[in-house]
Amino acid sequence: MFDIIIGRDEEDKKKFKDTGCGVIAKHFVGSKGEAHLTNPVKLDLTRPHIVGLFGKRGQGKSFSMGTIAEELMLLPDSIRFNLGTIMIDTMGIFWSMKKPNEKDVHLLSQWDMYPRGFDVNICIPEGQQEIYHKEGIEFDTTFAFAPKDLDLGSWALSFNIDLDSEMGIVLTKVIREANEFDMLYTLDDLIEITKEQKATGFVKEALINRFLVAKDWGIFKEGKESGTSIYDLVIPGRVSIVDISRFKLAVSSEGGWSVKALVVALLARIILQERIRSRRLEELEEMEGKFVGKKLPITWMLIDEAHQFLPRVGMTPASLPLLQWVKIGREPGVSLLLATQMPNKLHEEAVSQCDVLISHRLTSKKDIDALSDIMQTYLRFGIADYFENLPRLKGAAIILDDNSEHLYAMRMRPRMSWHAGGSPIAIKKTE
Ligand SMILES: Nc1ncnc2c1ncn2[C@@H]1O[C@H](COP(=O)(O)OP(=O)(O)O)[C@@H](O)[C@H]1O
Ligand SMILES: [Mg+2]
Repeated sequence: MFDIIIGRDEEDKKKFKDTGCGVIAKHFVGSKGEAHLTNPVKLDLTRPHIVGLFGKRGQGKSFSMGTIAEELMLLPDSIRFNLGTIMIDTMGIFWSMKKPNEKDVHLLSQWDMYPRGFDVNICIPEGQQEIYHKEGIEFDTTFAFAPKDLDLGSWALSFNIDLDSEMGIVLTKVIREANEFDMLYTLDDLIEITKEQKATGFVKEALINRFLVAKDWGIFKEGKESGTSIYDLVIPGRVSIVDISRFKLAVSSEGGWSVKALVVALLARIILQERIRSRRLEELEEMEGKFVGKKLPITWMLIDEAHQFLPRVGMTPASLPLLQWVKIGREPGVSLLLATQMPNKLHEEAVSQCDVLISHRLTSKKDIDALSDIMQTYLRFGIADYFENLPRLKGAAIILDDNSEHLYAMRMRPRMSWHAGGSPIAIKKTE
């Protein structure tokens, strides 16, 4: 039986075989009811990738994202410790990865697997601890940024302010003045600087209100201190779950999406910078054969509901930082997994740069068309036919490998850890 290896070129296949790959699925042979599972499908986790993970609601995207995170934690230590993973949890569902998936014992046994929990690092915004304590939700660490970490554009996008408007002009002055001191500042400092501006009372008031709301987000340090070190979030061999599910108050968009995007923006920007620095050190180390300094591991960022962060139309604070990952991430070694139920709402450049595409069933014509556009060159039939032939099982998907230009039908493997994202049902189990 031959294994299917996705995301690895011939040279690497010869050199490393399947070392550093995660077994994410099994290949389906035959169609619909006749299909049966055969060879394992392995995904390279060691080189930088852009992975698109699509499928309509309830087909297994979040579940599959968890499976890939599990595989990152199951790699042999010698590889695992060279990788760090951030999982952006928009729904607050991935904390359950600490617990074994007892409900799928039977399914797991068919795959020669067993339920087990993983030592994930659950991180929440520093200012939201009380909410989690009150609701009895456990977490491991907190994170916060320094207001200085934000550039003017990020403030404007988070507050939904046009920089050419009156408020935008005041914001520009405030941020410029604040950055003139060579020291850290707080949101209270920004409010004070706003008060001193020459502008109409209404404009100043409106901007101050926005800074006050930003305090409620709980993602900023209250004192004049640096933000959480990225080394506390991107940890060798571990997966950090960054829970951003709890933003109620947002200035500009419903459901706090612009704040969520701001968190992703800051993480993406800081990680990329640190990886660029680390890559240089890695190369120096290779040349000189000795330790030259602390380095951030090669980083994976897995993002659920990715169209909210990197939309096709419009911009969020995360748009530019994520596009940078897409465009230049290969060299410093950052990988992205973008999960969405609406590939046609995801930024075109991100979709077209995906070198691995996993798609659970899609039914909307627009989404199928968006997928067909990129898969075009490999397709023998219309993409709709591939979905039509997939057995109607949760986790069934097609996977496209840009390296080998092959497309396979497969079923993602069951999760070893508990998945908290399923839809609830009003019928309770009886004895
Ligand atoms: N590979 C799989 N094997 C078995 N069950 C799965 C698989 N993928 C998904 N499921 C089931 O489908 C449900 C919905 O999956 P989920 O990932 O939450 O959907 P969504 O695509 O909306 O993120 C899960 O709760 C799980 O019960
Ligand atoms: Mg989901």
